[in-house]
Amino acid sequence: MPFDDTEKLAHNKKRILISREEIAARIREMGKQISEDYRDKCPILVSVLNGGFIFCADLFRELTIDCEVDFIKISSYEDAMKTSGHVKLLKDVNAHLQGRHVLVVEDIVDSGYSVQFLNKKLQATNPESLRFVSLLVKQGTDRVPYEVHYIGFKIPNRFVVGYGLDLAQKYRNLPDIYVMD
Ligand code: IMP
Ligand code: MG
Repeated sequence: MPFDDTEKLAHNKKRILISREEIAARIREMGKQISEDYRDKCPILVSVLNGGFIFCADLFRELTIDCEVDFIKISSYEDAMKTSGHVKLLKDVNAHLQGRHVLVVEDIVDSGYSVQFLNKKLQATNPESLRFVSLLVKQGTDRVPYEVHYIGFKIPNRFVVGYGLDLAQKYRNLPDIYVMD
């Protein structure tokens, strides 16, 4: 049966910003690029929970090289629409990252606090290389300097939900990305 999300959207004003087809096409391109860049390297993808898990699952399956996956969980939003600026580690990676090619998989970068926190934390494990990939990067909202090597889409400063992204833990299951009106 086709996925019907009309009911889930009925009580909220949202409109599609990026469709599931556009997401899939972009992830195919990113998978190809990353597979070329990491040829013969067996990278370990570190999926940032909760938001990054859907993007990571799709990107992972577009990689045509040997690769591994692990998970880290952080929190900064505490169910609000603004970052608190205090990033907390809720669950650490289990894999041994020393000497590995680590690629951190984020859903969205906004202020940059999360990427800054993860960069510092994971650099300390002494990886062979450390890069970030994010499906979305908000424009003009950075509060700290950060570097994201692979970017899916640059978006305006709006709150978005769907495809893993939540508002107070809801809407992660929507297959498209919506902007809240
Ligand atoms: P940053 O630390 O401010 O860069 O925020 C990064 C995290 O905040 C992301 O990984 C998301 O979990 C969350 N976030 C930022 N903007 C949005 C949004 O528009 N919708 C949903 N979550 C967001
Ligand atoms: Mg996140």
